[in-house]
Amino acid sequence: MSKSININLLEENLLTWYDRNQRALPWRAVPGYSPNPYHVWLSEIMLQQTTVATVKDYFSRFVTRWPVIEDLAKATLDEVFHNWQGLGYYSRARNLHKCAQTLVRDYKGLLPHEAPVLQALPGIGPYTAAAIAAIAYDQPMVPVDGNVVRVFSRLFALETPLPALKNEVQILAKEMVPSHRSGDFAQGLMDLGATVCRPRNPLCEICPLQKECKGHHKGVAAQLPRPAVKSIKPRRYGIAFWVENDEGEILLEKRPDKGLLAGLIGLPTTIWQDTPWNLESDALFVSAPKGVDTWAHLPGMVRHTFTHFHLELRIAKGHSNIPKKGLWSSFDNLKSHAFPTVMKKVIRAVMETSLSYPPK
Ligand code: ADE
Repeated sequence: MSKSININLLEENLLTWYDRNQRALPWRAVPGYSPNPYHVWLSEIMLQQTTVATVKDYFSRFVTRWPVIEDLAKATLDEVFHNWQGLGYYSRARNLHKCAQTLVRDYKGLLPHEAPVLQALPGIGPYTAAAIAAIAYDQPMVPVDGNVVRVFSRLFALETPLPALKNEVQILAKEMVPSHRSGDFAQGLMDLGATVCRPRNPLCEICPLQKECKGHHKGVAAQLPRPAVKSIKPRRYGIAFWVENDEGEILLEKRPDKGLLAGLIGLPTTIWQDTPWNLESDALFVSAPKGVDTWAHLPGMVRHTFTHFHLELRIAKGHSNIPKKGLWSSFDNLKSHAFPTVMKKVIRAVMETSLSYPPK
């Protein structure tokens, strides 16, 4: 069993503590009653990127307006969006609505019990599926969120830094599935993480798991979990070329089929090198589109971070009709191209610094 902690004792101590100290939250069942799976699901979706304090009011407003899943399914998406305003990440609202309709259509308006089935529904990932299965139906699962990662990293004195730590905790959590009251166990971990085993200044002296906590015994609890090691990304530099022809069209370029942004459309650029470009250098203009007499270098630069490096792009603007076979796009048609984000940033920067746009 995992790393020699007495799991039965830990389970018992956590549940006893939860019975006395659980937070009263509007989506929770009163002790002795079964939770409402609709409430559990709705709260878990709202809590995905939002704090408990903010979610409380939104949750109450939703269940007052749409008391059962069928009501939510019948609402228009606009109404759902309207009531979601302020919670952000609107894809959650869209999926919530879609999920309500799927539940009515395929599951008689009820939430399934099994995590794999839940996970196939819109907006429900592995964490949310485990949380619903455990809290709504006492299925033997331990949902691992940030709180649980922190609590476990301290309990077992895990020195692995984030994000790899999360995998380690997932494995431990599978071994820690409680023998009963899985929902209370999961919520006990959440409440302990929020109120006692806090990120800073954990209250170890009142912690029900103190005796079992290796992090506490080693005196490192407050330093765990170890933060992600910041990778130092190199910086690269390039020039993006904004070239217009007599028709006011803009020159685009399809990137090579291999490498970063392979096959995507963008503005032509120089290679992205390790040192900033000298704006007067011939080398710069070897790779520039042909036929431009004078280049205007726009002020400022566009910054973008890729997985392995930061990129700084300056923008040079010119006029040419020469690249006849080039891919020219009218200004209005620019919107129809699926530009990668870095190119959208460049186009936006040109718009913001060019008073002549949009052309008459
Ligand atoms: N964070 C995510 N889910 C939660 C829940 N059910 N109770 C409290 N905090 C949470």
